[in-house]
Amino acid sequence: MADTFRSAAALLSHRSPVDPVVCLRPHLIKVRARRMLDAFPGDVLYAVKCNDAPEVLRALWEGGVRHYDTASIGEIRAVRALLPEARCHFMHPVKSVGAIAEAYYEHGVRRFVFDHADELAKIVAATGCATDLELFVRLAVPGEGALLTLTGKFGVGVEEASSLVRAARTYAREVGITFHVGSQCVDTGAFARAIGLAAEVVRRAGPVDHLDVGGGFPAVYKGDEPRFEAFVATIVEAVTRHGLSCRLQCEPGRALVADGASVLTRIELRRGESLYLNDGVYGNLAELKWVGPQFPLRLVRPGRTVDHRLVGFDLFGPTCDSIDSMPGPHWLPADADDGDWVEVGMMGAYSNALKTRFNGFESDRMAFLEDAGWYLKDPSRPEAPRAALHARAA
Ligand SMILES: Cc1ncc(COP(=O)(O)O)c(C=O)c1O
Repeated sequence: MADTFRSAAALLSHRSPVDPVVCLRPHLIKVRARRMLDAFPGDVLYAVKCNDAPEVLRALWEGGVRHYDTASIGEIRAVRALLPEARCHFMHPVKSVGAIAEAYYEHGVRRFVFDHADELAKIVAATGCATDLELFVRLAVPGEGALLTLTGKFGVGVEEASSLVRAARTYAREVGITFHVGSQCVDTGAFARAIGLAAEVVRRAGPVDHLDVGGGFPAVYKGDEPRFEAFVATIVEAVTRHGLSCRLQCEPGRALVADGASVLTRIELRRGESLYLNDGVYGNLAELKWVGPQFPLRLVRPGRTVDHRLVGFDLFGPTCDSIDSMPGPHWLPADADDGDWVEVGMMGAYSNALKTRFNGFESDRMAFLEDAGWYLKDPSRPEAPRAALHARAA
């Protein structure tokens, strides 16, 4: 069980850690979950891949989340072991026969996704031609507006999706359509356009019981991202405009848990405007590279002042691989130096979940922090370089 501290500064003062620490704030996850559940007119499934730490899953449950988007039998086992009442849905379009059978017979999973006739046949066979299946067809949609697109791997076009929906209806108790607009999508219109494509499938194949609008809702890293409620308004408007009368669900990962954790990492070397950290792309900080320099940062230097001038640094992780670099500008106080600790905010999503042991850099340290997410305090949350207002000392 991880220890609890008032703040990152208290953690550093009491524990003097050497390795990076993932700092969880379950109270923020609970608040965020309640807010998203209240706002969305349907089921909210948590995308477990985003952060499967038991502490995170438990906080979401306490916040009211009951449905889980699970992508592997390992995720299903883990969720059910921790939360026996949880409802898991197998939302990965490609699964093994063994995984489907175990999910169906041992974990009560009824909702499965597919995007190919052979996968449909596999699900039907693995569940013994069950009559209580809920089968969702994954529709391909453009990735415009998303920072990380999910196009090209899963999903089929409108025509193929229509014939798969018809085929699914032969076997399924309920049928649905699902899509994913891409992660950290800041364009509400992307959901409206995707719903337009789903409506076209319905026009061709007849009504469906469910529409799953996926994940992709942005976390508030910079401050100017549209809020979840704005996406919900767009989704409801588009569903109404297209005359779709079906149950709605969504599968957020990032937007649910991003503000529930930060990462503490130490500067091992400063070379000009480059900082070499003890955590990086192969550790908890992959998103600083793939999403880019938009995460709020601050120096945690208990009892000592920091320079108020800010510098846009490039960051480097500890491994020998040159992929392990996180080009800036990452704004931090101008006097940031060897031995200082940096707290990277908004790190609840795709951080510890992506961590590897590459190059022998391994740290599983976690702590609970009781403070508010400092990175959310300033309501103006302006863009860089003014976002560097957050790059202050703890
Ligand atoms: C099928 C599916 N649903 C939901 C998610 C969660 O997406 P996000 O974290 O962008 O909300 C993902 C992410 O890859 C996904 O593949």
